Amino acid sequence: MRRSRFMRPVVAGLAVMTLAGCKPLDDGLVAIFGRSMRDSRSFDPYENPRPAPVGSVAFAAGNYPAEDGHVNLGQPEGVAIPYFTQMDLGPQIGVGGPAIQGMMNPTDPTAAASLARGEELYMRFCVVCHGPDGVGANAYIADKHVLLPAYNVSGAQVSAYTDQYLYAMIRVGRGLMPEYGSRISHFDRWHVVNYVRQLQSQAGNAAAGGDE
Ligand code: HEC
Repeated sequence: MRRSRFMRPVVAGLAVMTLAGCKPLDDGLVAIFGRSMRDSRSFDPYENPRPAPVGSVAFAAGNYPAEDGHVNLGQPEGVAIPYFTQMDLGPQIGVGGPAIQGMMNPTDPTAAASLARGEELYMRFCVVCHGPDGVGANAYIADKHVLLPAYNVSGAQVSAYTDQYLYAMIRVGRGLMPEYGSRISHFDRWHVVNYVRQLQSQAGNAAAGGDE
């Protein structure tokens, strides 16, 4: 009985505020709860964007399952994929620390489907800074930002890096290069590695291959 007597004016008040439009409703809620959605702390679009959490798979990334008929988990089921960060790229450029070494490439590096998928993703994510042929000077940003094109990925230097190090760089980024782990899934990262290897052989550089 006491409760309904208390609630009735509140409900009536809310109804009045609702009918009177949003702003008074917000103000009313501020009076009651001390805050409203209108004034809550939030990011504006593109203001201080945060990277997606580790292991998340982008909704629109087009990540493919490992095999036909398999559920797309982004990561292979039952296979332990090491956790690592940029710190684990290690002091030795091109090899990487223990967390990175010894990872298996689950794809067939010479399969046409893998290279096609790698090319699709390279053209979507990498070409802007590394160029269609893996030469930084040919990057799409070169015209507008002469000083910004990134390093060659088809040159002798990166050809000498291990597959695992390339995979790791795609996943966690390095220095000025952003991470793509939240946008390119496990298998797709390896497809990109395979495609970068193809760019290197097209440029006449022998690829180092895996670290095992
Ligand atoms: C926004 C620009 C940008 C994009 C996009 C980008 N990179 Fe990079 N990349 C860089 C920069 C800058 C560096 C140099 C990083 C450093 O100084 O450590 C780099 C370095 C690299 C290196 C090592 C080069 C070396 O000589 O050590 C590899 C390999 C690489 N990127 C691969 C990729 C791949 C694969 C993609 C696509 C998934 C990609 N990058 C997308 C900017 C970019």
